[in-house]
Amino acid sequence: MTKSTIAFPPELLHAEAMSWIASIVELCEPRDVYFCDGSDAEYKHLCAELVKQGTFKPLNEKLRPNSFLAWSDPSDVARVEDRTFICSRRKQDAGPTNNWVNPVEMKKKLSGLFKGCMRGRTLYVVPFSMGPVGSPLSKIGIELSDSPYVAVNMKIMTRMGKNVWMALGQSGEFVQCVHSVGAPLAAGQKDVPWPCNKDEKYIVHYPEERAIWSFGSGYGGNALLGKKCFALRIASAMGRDQGWLAEHMLILKVESPTGEKTYLSAAFPSACGKTNLAMLIPPKEMQGWKVTTLGDDIAWLRPGDDGRLYAINPEAGFFGVAPGTSYKTNPNAMDSIRANTIFTNVALTPEGDVWWEGMTDTPPAQLTDWQGEAWTPDCGRKAAHPNARFTAPAHQCPVIDKDWENPAGVPINAIIFGGRRATTLPLVVQSFNWNFGVYLAATIGSETTAAAAGKVGEVRRDPFAMLPFCGYHMGEYFNHWLQMGRGLSNPPRIFCVNWFRKDANGKFLWPGFGDNMRVLRWVVERVQGKASAVESPLGWMPQYSDLDWSGLNFSAKQFNNIMAVDTEEWKQEMLGHEEFFHKLYDHLPREFGNMRELMLSALWRSPEKWEMLSERYAEEN
Ligand code: GTP
Ligand code: SPV
Ligand code: MN
Repeated sequence: MTKSTIAFPPELLHAEAMSWIASIVELCEPRDVYFCDGSDAEYKHLCAELVKQGTFKPLNEKLRPNSFLAWSDPSDVARVEDRTFICSRRKQDAGPTNNWVNPVEMKKKLSGLFKGCMRGRTLYVVPFSMGPVGSPLSKIGIELSDSPYVAVNMKIMTRMGKNVWMALGQSGEFVQCVHSVGAPLAAGQKDVPWPCNKDEKYIVHYPEERAIWSFGSGYGGNALLGKKCFALRIASAMGRDQGWLAEHMLILKVESPTGEKTYLSAAFPSACGKTNLAMLIPPKEMQGWKVTTLGDDIAWLRPGDDGRLYAINPEAGFFGVAPGTSYKTNPNAMDSIRANTIFTNVALTPEGDVWWEGMTDTPPAQLTDWQGEAWTPDCGRKAAHPNARFTAPAHQCPVIDKDWENPAGVPINAIIFGGRRATTLPLVVQSFNWNFGVYLAATIGSETTAAAAGKVGEVRRDPFAMLPFCGYHMGEYFNHWLQMGRGLSNPPRIFCVNWFRKDANGKFLWPGFGDNMRVLRWVVERVQGKASAVESPLGWMPQYSDLDWSGLNFSAKQFNNIMAVDTEEWKQEMLGHEEFFHKLYDHLPREFGNMRELMLSALWRSPEKWEMLSERYAEEN
């Protein structure tokens, strides 16, 4: 394939994009080039091709219409954080929490790896918009990928196709995204169902050039480059330069029985409950409370002229964790994936439907597991991979909010941060102010989950749930958040939650899921100035009587257990903060030092003397 033989579509008038595409074609040497138009007919056709290749199994048309199942290579099942690089020009701009390689060196390495890497394959040109096409808050990307699986997933996860070329025009800005599974085919060589490169994986970001190069993996955030690579890592760097925020957050709206609307966004680490919270169904006893969703993974937040913070969801679909999703835990997610859905690494039933751990109380008597092996409930293996996922269009969610594609976004009233912590962190606190909220968010931590490769169960600091997703120095990022707060005359109120506290026997202390509405109601009423609270070194906390308990048998004693701020545990916790902050010392906000001192001195007092803390914290900030 040479430059002159590429048939560019007539909508593509962008000379720079054309010559960039031609240069990648020359480098990667694909067998042919296909320009995606984003149509439904094209989607059908590509899915049929994937079935022919053995990547997709069509599911039972009655049970799961227009849906497919893919099983990845067992070596390619999650994001690879140790192979993910932020190649800014200066090492210290990437900061100590990111892998860094000199971009000149990295480009040398990658041009070697990408040379001829698409031989025998088709290069798909995937133009996409993160955010509604044409919204002033949206951004455009072009992904060049040799994976048709990526092309069909991008069709669901982004606004993809022809009209993006129109929005781009002759000179619009776009993010260059180059992706290869890194498995060229020799002449006559038979392809495998899930091509990838077992030896070399590179997920590389050049923040200054706004470019992404990904090699060797076909899975999720490694390959669907609009998601973590663009909408978080590159976008966070754009946000720093342009005065906005790209965050690992869901967006939801709570409507009270009297019709008052409150918009919330919430950050939780990967596989810690964003999809569940975004689609929450309130307990039936909390009559009249309604939750609608605008997004389950990423939010772009921008200050409006009115001094409030406005959010859009840059994505158009859900790439959700399947295991644990059921009609009990998340009926709205279950309804979102009834049709037109791609499943990856879940099990197959004899009827041609899907199954995963937690989907039903009783597992089917036999299945084919995610590795294609016969499976029975007593075989001792998991039927689905713990990071198995579904890709489903957001508009299929029964509680999708009517404003989810509003190009202006929605005004955020409260931001919630949460980790997965078995001890120490209470169910909910409200920060005394923005700056202290930034400190609390900077110190959230989580036990590691299956969403990334590595050991599961250790606690790691995951500031803002952005540790793997911040495209620049984490300390600078904290400063950017503080700076954003200074520019907001009506900032969202900040809260921290922990659904995952456990008792001595390892049992969750909090029922979670729909019952999280009880916490959301308090959050909403705090924002509205209606609910009361008491002070603690961590911020304002509800008392037992401040939460709505209708329909739930939860005693004051249980509540006190889950709200306990144990001063000894907290002194340890503060040492943990310090240890983490040490890594970021050269860019750490000076404000954090004051806040640490305040918290420590508050923790040294006995709990009876915790009143008036809000004023002290305010004075210092
Ligand atoms: P990414 O897509 O990886 O960014 O993650 P996510 O935050 O959207 O993950 P998701 O909502 O799919 O989280 C799934 C995990 O969270 C499952 O293990 C659920 O059982 C668990 N989970 C969700 N909500 C709750 C809750 O309220 N309580 C408890 N205990 N677990 C929950
Ligand atoms: C996450 O890991 O936070 C995800 C899944 O949302 S992935 O897109 O694969 O990164
Ligand atoms: Mn995520």
